[in-house]
Amino acid sequence: MTDYRTLRVALLGAGAVGSQVADLLLKHGDELADRAGATLELAGIAVRDVDAKRDADLPRELFTTDAETLIVGSDIVIELMGGIEPARTQVLHAIASGADVVTANKALLATHGSEVFEAADQVGAEVYYEAAAAGAIPIIRPLRDSLAGDRVVRIMGIVNGTTNYILDRMDTEGADFADVLAQAQALGYAEADPTADVEGYDAAQKAAILASLAFHTTVPLDAVHREGITSVDAAMIESARHAGYVIKLLAVCERLAATEEGATEAISVRVYPALVERTHPLASVHGANNAVFVQAEAAGDLMFYGAGAGGVQTASAVLGDVVSAARRHIAGGVGVGESTRANLPAVPIGHVITRYQITLEVDDQPGVLATVAGILSEGRVSIATVEQTVIEADENSRSGGSARLVIGTHKAREQDLSETVERLAASGVVERVVSVLRVEGN
Ligand code: NDP
Ligand code: HSE
Repeated sequence: MTDYRTLRVALLGAGAVGSQVADLLLKHGDELADRAGATLELAGIAVRDVDAKRDADLPRELFTTDAETLIVGSDIVIELMGGIEPARTQVLHAIASGADVVTANKALLATHGSEVFEAADQVGAEVYYEAAAAGAIPIIRPLRDSLAGDRVVRIMGIVNGTTNYILDRMDTEGADFADVLAQAQALGYAEADPTADVEGYDAAQKAAILASLAFHTTVPLDAVHREGITSVDAAMIESARHAGYVIKLLAVCERLAATEEGATEAISVRVYPALVERTHPLASVHGANNAVFVQAEAAGDLMFYGAGAGGVQTASAVLGDVVSAARRHIAGGVGVGESTRANLPAVPIGHVITRYQITLEVDDQPGVLATVAGILSEGRVSIATVEQTVIEADENSRSGGSARLVIGTHKAREQDLSETVERLAASGVVERVVSVLRVEGN
């Protein structure tokens, strides 16, 4: 056996991901040493409750509640506690102590990334975070390294496993939202507070991280438009199916040409449930899997697919980072660093241009369709398709009752679309705006 230098590794957190990281580090220590060029000694595991049951069989003596002391003298600190505090304080403490940091904490990076990266820059430390976006899928390195010589134009993908698991089970089995969410939690996919998943916060954090890397720009979380999936119900899923679509929670990060404010280039970063054609590759992303499409000027279209959540799957990405950190520790020199020099402005959601599907309940009277078409036309929203279904016929009248109108639009500006929907709602012929969904995918 080669006599490697020993690097001291501190693990903070032994939940769904941390327990698997510890298990693999202990099980595959020799192999990892050969790949890293260093023996990775798991010095300890900081948790809240040292007696809690773990998903892996780990030596009791490794556990401590004293993260601060464990960090001191460590070469690599793996932060898998999640949340902002005490994760932020411990990550900064690790950097100040001379350690490289590996983290899967997108909430921390999306909100305090600049602080963390600046602290690391100041002392020549490195922060690795492959697991912070799209679980096991290698997407951070491709954006940061492989595509560093290209210009990324667009990223579109499913980046949250929990919501994809929920929407997929609702679509394929007619499952109930609350039941499937509970299963996603039991399977270790969901965040400690699953509101982060279902309200789109987790996907927005990942979108901010991906857009920052892709566009060499610091993208603050409040520049990301966010909508979750809590308003998606069985009727919307059925209506999408009828029209040949599936509903997916998408993250879209786009480079835009000249803006209305006069910038020569800008970006749009947004997360929302959208309709995707059933023939589109994203429609066949099932369960907790994720898929990310990257469109770059020279490379063209690239697709990354795989497990977006899950303890052992995510542990793979974390350990890849640990090996990278160990190699850098042994070889020395600067690490990958962050590049934010482009500093492109982010446009508000109102400036985004995409297609829409508007579902309305209207009076089933002569002239209603013409009124609706007139309002859309006045609002600069062009109709691509219309389907009318009678939902409540009035037997005593020649027309009468209510009808459902499903209108597919050509590309329209979001602000024009939302103002038009407001005018439709107030028009007197529309009984109810059932849903307005963006159509994405081409
Ligand atoms: P869990 O909630 O399962 O585990 C969190 C762990 O951190 C627990 O062991 C907990 O200790 C420990 N911990 C929490 N707060 C403290 C504290 N104040 N002091 C010491 N220890 C603490 O989280 P996950 O493993 O699911 O996620 C970890 C990170 O990985 C998060 O940032 C998450 O967003 C990210 N991630 C998760 C994925 C997944 O599929 N689960 C996928 C990709 C990223 P104790 O057990 O004693 O309570
Ligand atoms: N809760 C997250 C998800 C974990 O469901 O995608 C992976 O980041």
